[in-house]
Amino acid sequence: MPAHAPMPARMPAHAPAPQAASRRAFAPWLGQTNDVTSVFLAAGQIPDLINLGGGLPEPSLWPVEELADLAAEVIRSHPAEALGYGPIPGLPALRDLIAARCATPALRLTRDNVLITTGGMQALELVGKVLLQPGGTIAAQSPAYLGALDAWRPRAPRYRPMRIERNDHDPHAAMQGAQFAYTVPNFSNPSGRLVSLPERQALVAAAHATGTWLVEDDPYGVLYYEGEPLPRLLDLSAAGHAGSGDGPYDGPVVYMGSLSKELTPGLRIGWVIAAPEMIAALAAAKQGSDMCTSGLSQMLALRALQGGMTERIRPAILSLYRARRDALCAAMREHLAGDLDWQVPVGGMFVWATARDPRLDTDRLLHEGLAQGVCISPSSVFDPEGQDRRSLRINFTLNPPEALEEGCRRLARAIRATLAAAE
Ligand SMILES: Cc1ncc(COP(=O)(O)O)c(C=O)c1O
Repeated sequence: MPAHAPMPARMPAHAPAPQAASRRAFAPWLGQTNDVTSVFLAAGQIPDLINLGGGLPEPSLWPVEELADLAAEVIRSHPAEALGYGPIPGLPALRDLIAARCATPALRLTRDNVLITTGGMQALELVGKVLLQPGGTIAAQSPAYLGALDAWRPRAPRYRPMRIERNDHDPHAAMQGAQFAYTVPNFSNPSGRLVSLPERQALVAAAHATGTWLVEDDPYGVLYYEGEPLPRLLDLSAAGHAGSGDGPYDGPVVYMGSLSKELTPGLRIGWVIAAPEMIAALAAAKQGSDMCTSGLSQMLALRALQGGMTERIRPAILSLYRARRDALCAAMREHLAGDLDWQVPVGGMFVWATARDPRLDTDRLLHEGLAQGVCISPSSVFDPEGQDRRSLRINFTLNPPEALEEGCRRLARAIRATLAAAE
């Protein structure tokens, strides 16, 4: 299920197939979904369910009063910007601020390198709109973010899975002829994996060599619980591949950021940093999507960033999520170590676990889990082909330690029931 919503709102699998003669037919892609989706939709109604399947932030971390005061202030002081239509690529002051915030001595950015989007989700959709021909190819880090797969589904792309961690992974071959490559290098959703520095360098080198756009989706880059953040693909591209002299960034990386994890998801503020020609193309596509991102949200984001709100609340976010990650992993060691293998993620919101016993089908585990009162996300929804049924994604940011522990207890029971039924 997408990280940003408790349950995805897609057509249930049993939706009638569109009929050629019907005046009420839907586009065919709406029917291309598996029954896991309808199970998720129904799960929202189960009382006392422990939801480890979503990817929601902890609401008590949001600076509600401060944002409420700011909202009242910006509506009164800037009614035209907050309540009117705004420029398609975003408020100039916010674009300038994002450019200044992301620039480094090696990475020169101007307003023309920045597009404000309605969440990171819109950035994904717009990239599909401007790059994908029907049936085009995406070289995607595998497993892949379900929201991205959903955003691109109407264009029926072909996927070339990139298993970046494998020794035999060849980014050059993966990107050759693809419309674009897609990766979440910091604590990928769903795998929680951190793409290493050599792997990042190889991806960037391949994008430059093949001339392929390289989408760096980075909503979790602010959620490092240990260690120093690795350089962004955008930084590596700017530093190691001169070509445009001292001008603003003009390379192949299309960087996507978002305020959803470092402030609140409901503001729906995201941004793209890319070559000016890409920003212009995305802005053209955005016109046909929503005309502009909410001016009120942009003004709030501007004021919040100017006032250092994100830096102020970051320590509390990191310490709460780090403690919940540790609580989940401790509970997994206690209750699930015999059944699942996993690595403790260094950041982000998810633990990705793989069944030791190949008979443990995680689509079935989803059903058994719901019967036991716990929801997980099975790996099939993160596989463009829907084939991988051996792994699951577990979220740790939304629930307190006691619920995480109880969720693991229930999951252990569900695993036993799933395996017993498979015998
Ligand atoms: C990998 C990834 N990309 C993009 C998004 C979109 O987030 P938002 O639209 O809230 O910025 C999410 C949501 O959680 C995500 O996990």
